[in-house]
Amino acid sequence: MILVTGGAGFIGGNFVLDWLKVPGNEGVINLDKLTYAGNLTTLASLKDDSRHIFVHGDIGDKALVSKLLHEHQPRAIVNFAAESHVDRSIHGPAEFVATNIVGTFNLLECARDYWNGLDDSAKKAFRFHHVSTDEVYGSLSATDPAFTETNSYEPNSPYSASKAASDHLVRAWFHTYGFPVVTTNCSNNYGPYHFPEKLVPLVILNALNGKPLPIYGDGQQIRDWLYVGDHCAAIREVLSKGELGETYNIGGWNEKANIDVVKTICTILDELKPRADGKAYVDQITYVKDRPGHDRRYAIDASKVERELGWRPVETFDTGIRKTVQWYLDNPVWIEGVVSGSYRDWLSKQYN
Ligand code: NAD
Ligand code: DAU
Repeated sequence: MILVTGGAGFIGGNFVLDWLKVPGNEGVINLDKLTYAGNLTTLASLKDDSRHIFVHGDIGDKALVSKLLHEHQPRAIVNFAAESHVDRSIHGPAEFVATNIVGTFNLLECARDYWNGLDDSAKKAFRFHHVSTDEVYGSLSATDPAFTETNSYEPNSPYSASKAASDHLVRAWFHTYGFPVVTTNCSNNYGPYHFPEKLVPLVILNALNGKPLPIYGDGQQIRDWLYVGDHCAAIREVLSKGELGETYNIGGWNEKANIDVVKTICTILDELKPRADGKAYVDQITYVKDRPGHDRRYAIDASKVERELGWRPVETFDTGIRKTVQWYLDNPVWIEGVVSGSYRDWLSKQYN
């Protein structure tokens, strides 16, 4: 077995679904707290699959995590569980400290205790894979080179600071205790099952619902976009071949300004689902107040993971974003399940 945390969220959910499609892969114990971002509908196709064991719980619950580890004896842990939305971290950072820092600490401690008790060969094979973000490196100017693994950490938001702290804990557990870790720092993901608080799914759903498409500030902030299936493939490579104690940057080689991402989505929707009034979706674009402390540019240099482990993204932005828009058009039931009262409360808190 492997233990996946946060496997009912966007990337974790995609990872579990993809993992179980790979012939020969072990089963998955999926530990998830089911916060507003966790969604069991994402995992509905695994309902009758005995290789998937879902456990509702918190990575910070040491008794539960220890019990799961001793009962199922996983050969790896992949830690996706986190509070992940920058805007929410600005409104309320406490949950980010609780899960991303204290939760990761508790998970590390339980895992280390379990690992210490393994026999030599199981000990050698064991991996703790920590899934992190490019945001820990801070913000780039237009002319700075892309982030490499040796960039210093300069997090600017409560979210990125909490992820940076978790990365430091993971690193220290390797250096101090010899605990077998690998860390990946990835750029912005997009794709199926993405909770519509984030830019790409928010714009798709707002466009279809005739609502404004909110662009923070001047819309010229740059992100490096990666299709989620490519991120999941990279994690599988790093988990199986990554050097212990190393970090790997994962990115799509796809730097785009936010306004261009939004215009691309509008153009695809104009083609796949034209507005009833014959107008263009770009007419719904609305510039709104900027995010406080908004990082200007992220860019990932993903050459280390390509050179050392042979991973490169398969999707271009054009192919990935088209698939994504089509997925949202084809999955109204999933959408219906996530746009609940609490989602509407968030929209009014953030955008009104
Ligand atoms: P998400 O918010 O969609 O999902 C997070 C999942 O973690 C949810 O299912 C939630 O219920 C669960 N969770 C939260 N707190 C928990 C806790 N205390 N115990 C157990 N489960 C808990 O996030 P995501 O976008 O899928 O991101 C997954 C990971 O990847 C995060 O660590 C994030 O920092 C990292 N990451 C995300 C991106 C991105 O673009 N989304 C890019 C790089 C890295
Ligand atoms: O870089 C990796 C990170 O990408 C992950 O670590 C985070 O978990 C993930 O949420 C994402 O963070 P961002 O803040 O970059 O993603 P978000 O979708 O919230 O915003 C993308 C860009 O779009 C950002 O510059 C802010 C802008 N934006 C966002 C929203 C929600 C808008 O202009 N309008 C919006 O309504």
